[in-house]
Amino acid sequence: MYFDKDDFTQDILTFGGSAVRFRSWKNLIYVDRPVDIKYQRMNLFIPEAYFEGGKINGYSSDSAPVFMPNTVGGYMPGNAGEPGCVSPEQDEPNSILGALAHGYVVAAPALRGRTLKALDGSFTGKAPACIVDYKAAVRFLRYFTTDLPGDKNKIITNGTSAGGALSALMGASGNHPDYEPWLQEVGAADARDDVFAASCYCPITDLEHADMAYEWQFLGVNEYRRSRMVMKEGGCPAFLPEEGLMDAAEIRASRGEAALFPSYINSLRLIACDGRPLTLEADGSGPFAEYVKRIVLRSAQTAIDQGKDLSSKSWLRQENGRAVSVDFDGYVRDITRMKTAPAFDALTMATAENSLFGSRWEDCRHFTAYSLENSLAGAGMAEEEIVRVMNPTRYIRDARAVTAKRWRIRHGERDRDTSLAVSAILALLLQEQGNEVDYCAPWDTPHSGDYDLDGLFAWIDQICR
Ligand code: DHB
Repeated sequence: MYFDKDDFTQDILTFGGSAVRFRSWKNLIYVDRPVDIKYQRMNLFIPEAYFEGGKINGYSSDSAPVFMPNTVGGYMPGNAGEPGCVSPEQDEPNSILGALAHGYVVAAPALRGRTLKALDGSFTGKAPACIVDYKAAVRFLRYFTTDLPGDKNKIITNGTSAGGALSALMGASGNHPDYEPWLQEVGAADARDDVFAASCYCPITDLEHADMAYEWQFLGVNEYRRSRMVMKEGGCPAFLPEEGLMDAAEIRASRGEAALFPSYINSLRLIACDGRPLTLEADGSGPFAEYVKRIVLRSAQTAIDQGKDLSSKSWLRQENGRAVSVDFDGYVRDITRMKTAPAFDALTMATAENSLFGSRWEDCRHFTAYSLENSLAGAGMAEEEIVRVMNPTRYIRDARAVTAKRWRIRHGERDRDTSLAVSAILALLLQEQGNEVDYCAPWDTPHSGDYDLDGLFAWIDQICR
């Protein structure tokens, strides 16, 4: 691990008819004892203007925020991001190019993921590798790049889905001692890893409670619809629709998991902003359920205010241009179930999360008591401390963590990869601790991210100026 500040290239990219000039430092190994040098590396991009005493968007060399997106999906390894356009056909910048044009410094780390193996066949990217690497990358930046442009007290993480979960974890768990042994092991730089703000698109998080949250939401919908990725000749992925009905064991698991959710919610002692307790009755109804319904209702109202016609939504009651109530069961049937029960800790151990919680020599493990007890795969259980360090909700109320004070969380209204309750819990815990949380469910939006870069950058500008 070293940093040569003179070892950069000067680059120019264009979009929308204008040129973006920046300096690039590529493939910076951000730990002293890398386990996988292909992934424990990052790219750093800095707008050229800051080396010429210039300003962009009101930011100068000292004040420019540092945007730190990850590219992790499915808890797979994520490459170090590069500036470019979203597709070869479109003249639309990706988040990195957009951020540079907007005057941000960009640090784009690669992170290890669950499928990586060493030469001896052992796994090297199981939990908590991805979050350890993200923290190590922040530490590297703080340790080595102090005299380069960019305000290292304004680091903003960004990610989608599993990457959104990692962004949330960065925001929640800054400098927490729980991560120290793993950071020492890889030889992270001696610096802080807390961040200023976190942007999280559809975070697949609170994994050990995500099964119960999913069944609380989808209970009674036994048919599932999803697309399965298959590789065609030439390595081009195709998505095949797959539909089916849950079998008896899955329906049993659905009921079993749904029954666990109220006591989890009640144990959190969540409160609404008016101070009312957000609890659930044993049957899953109650103030927390009403709270989640209001998230959908607000989503609908925003869409109506934008002139969208929602009259086809029979589960939504409208009066004079106001969305007044949501039939939650109707909403859930409309968006349809994607995953069979249990959705994350599968009894067959076939999910991305089972693989995330594998170990050096085991590809997959369980991480919930329910699935371990009912396992059809008969294998081991992830250590409690590993499950814990992957869960941001466990650090928000922990005084030993430096939690980011500013958050932007987006969870598409049509997202079925995890329950809306998951992001709702995250937002509520953050608000309870006095953090600023910009949270909503964008209408008719599936599991996806970076779809509103103008809004994302406007938020960053608002919190940084
Ligand atoms: C992702 C999606 C999932 O449904 C999941 O369980 C984990 C990760 C993703 O898109 O990153």
